[in-house]
Amino acid sequence: MKHLLTLADLSIEEINAILDDAQGFCDGTLKCDLSGRIAANLFFESSTRTQYSFNVAQEKLNVRVVSFNVATSSMNKKESFYDTVKLFDAIGCDFLVIRSPEVEYYKQLLGHVNAAILNAGDGTGNHPTQSLLDLLTIRQEFGKFEGLKCCICGDIAHSRVAHTNFEVMRRLGMEVVTSGPDMFMEEGMNFEPFETALATSDIVMMLRVQHERHDGSVQFDKDEYHKNFGLTAENVAKMKEHAIIMHPAPFNRGVEIADEVVECDKARIFKQMSNGVFVRMAVLKRAVED
Ligand code: NCD
Repeated sequence: MKHLLTLADLSIEEINAILDDAQGFCDGTLKCDLSGRIAANLFFESSTRTQYSFNVAQEKLNVRVVSFNVATSSMNKKESFYDTVKLFDAIGCDFLVIRSPEVEYYKQLLGHVNAAILNAGDGTGNHPTQSLLDLLTIRQEFGKFEGLKCCICGDIAHSRVAHTNFEVMRRLGMEVVTSGPDMFMEEGMNFEPFETALATSDIVMMLRVQHERHDGSVQFDKDEYHKNFGLTAENVAKMKEHAIIMHPAPFNRGVEIADEVVECDKARIFKQMSNGVFVRMAVLKRAVED
């Protein structure tokens, strides 16, 4: 069984192979039947999109899914994360889809589980399936990665989406810049003023402010933020003609993105969600391959 922990572990060839399979599932030209396999979707942090699109991907591949709810689990009886995951491995699950607030939570599990660990997000660290669905959406739009410019805007420092995309997009030959208020910027991540980035990027990727990862020290005014760093209709008009808008969601309308922009012509946000199913099907297929 093959884990999927970070995209940095994968070569460009492996990433393209996953995207090819995902495109095959999208087009209906690729078939795969994983009957007899069992998955446990273990979300120790909130999730709607990732959790339920993994669920739909599993349904489409005939994988049976064991339901898990952290709130009613024996973690209430002080059972640890490690022992909880070990249980699902011990009872015979083939896939462990895991999201945890702890960066690199998977390191403690390696060598201790037989199932494939599919990382559905580790704190501010990695979100490999989100990046893969972002890449699939970009490839469908532009037919290539090389030479494209992507601006990632918002709470860069606390975003696993930004960290994962920054690494993989540069490896794929894209130019990646980040933008947003100083308090959310990170060293070495190519800062560019929002106005410049908007006018020169092929992809404008907006991020949600990750309030749950702030320690209370962040002063935040949502109207001020919207005025300075929000993607408003006025800002969309400054984008290149063929440029697209992406967002991993959940989005906060009226904060990082204006209500009327969410479904405008340039927006690919719901397309990203649809692609999430195909990418997760490809990742499940890959996990059982030799
Ligand atoms: C993202 C996440 O959980 O990292 N959501 C997602 O998986 N689509 C982004 C976010 O929560 O802001």
